Amino acid sequence: MFNDTFLRACQRDQTNSVPVWFMRQAGRYDADYRAIRKKYSLVEICEHPDVCVEVTKMPVDKLGVDAAILFSDIMIPIGAMGLPFVIKENVGPVIDTPIRHESDLHHLHTFVPEAALPHVLETIRLLKQDLSVPLIGFMGGPFTLASYMIEGGPSRDYLHTKTMMVSRPDMWQQLMDKLSEMIIVYGTAQVKAGASALQIFDSWVGSLAPSDYHQYVLPTMQRIFGALKELDVPLIYFGVNTGELLSTFAETGASVIGVDWRVPLTVARQRVGDNVALQGNFDPAMLFAPQSEIERRAQAILSEGTKAPGFIFNLGHGVKPSTDIAVLRELVAYVHQFRLTC
Ligand code: CP3
Repeated sequence: MFNDTFLRACQRDQTNSVPVWFMRQAGRYDADYRAIRKKYSLVEICEHPDVCVEVTKMPVDKLGVDAAILFSDIMIPIGAMGLPFVIKENVGPVIDTPIRHESDLHHLHTFVPEAALPHVLETIRLLKQDLSVPLIGFMGGPFTLASYMIEGGPSRDYLHTKTMMVSRPDMWQQLMDKLSEMIIVYGTAQVKAGASALQIFDSWVGSLAPSDYHQYVLPTMQRIFGALKELDVPLIYFGVNTGELLSTFAETGASVIGVDWRVPLTVARQRVGDNVALQGNFDPAMLFAPQSEIERRAQAILSEGTKAPGFIFNLGHGVKPSTDIAVLRELVAYVHQFRLTC
């Protein structure tokens, strides 16, 4: 039987239980994943649909979550646009030839998903036949992707990125246009292949002041969500440290907004209004707390989150690699036994 609780909560329909999944739910906390990673790199997993299907399904089978998220990375389409990257262990994506000059922008290709990433779409088609829960497709957000492309790797202060944004707004906009085009066609291809929802990970956009977000990013997000809306699937928008941006996030056209643990869900709800669903916001570091403390915090999130229709339980950011898989399993069971009283 197909479990559509996650999709119903995204649409703010009534559900019998609160759906739960975890950002970065496929990965290093799991011994079977680590065994597969000994044989294949992350990129190689993505290039082998049979392996990629297996890795995507693992958390559904092992944890009992209500949604699967495609195993991939936000950087995969960036490589396909002609900007090579490597993923350095415990560092993240690294690009040797970052975008600094106007001519660097001209080297980026137009992204045609079927031609560039046929194996990803094949993986989605296989998963569609196989899964008993919805599949979430995803893309990086334009600011977050631009930050890796311009900095050449992870950054604390995003100096090169912000410098380009304000001193070469023409170049910034060209890059935003190229990325939004990629995000729209890639999201569309993922849904056509079988994804039931899309999440945009704009993980690092919370580094911007609200006025800068409004000026340099919001129009691009509105263009992206405006186009993806035609697909008629839930559109989730997530970033870290975005408390002060939440009211503006409600103007992007996203139908679900991800919240991290720094913002209480009641405050998040006031900021985003009643026309979107909320997803979050358990602090992933608190998965290392004693079980009773984990349950106390989960209970608080559940009672706050369910005050209005449309709540999906998640972490406020990704699962840490050293998390105990049994703790994740127990948290899923705890969320599922919570009964909606409203
Ligand atoms: O959520 C899932 O389980 C699906 C797979 C997924 C990966 N990356 C696989 C991956 C998803 C949704 C992502 C998104 C992603 N990638 C984001 C947005 C989410 C977030 O955490 O903010 C970002 C910023 C990236 C870029 C990236 N890729 C980082 C920061 C890292 C971690 C580097 C490290 O070693 O700590 C990666 C590598 C990566 N992507 C891993 C996985 C499972 C771990 C490395 C590995 O197994 O080799």
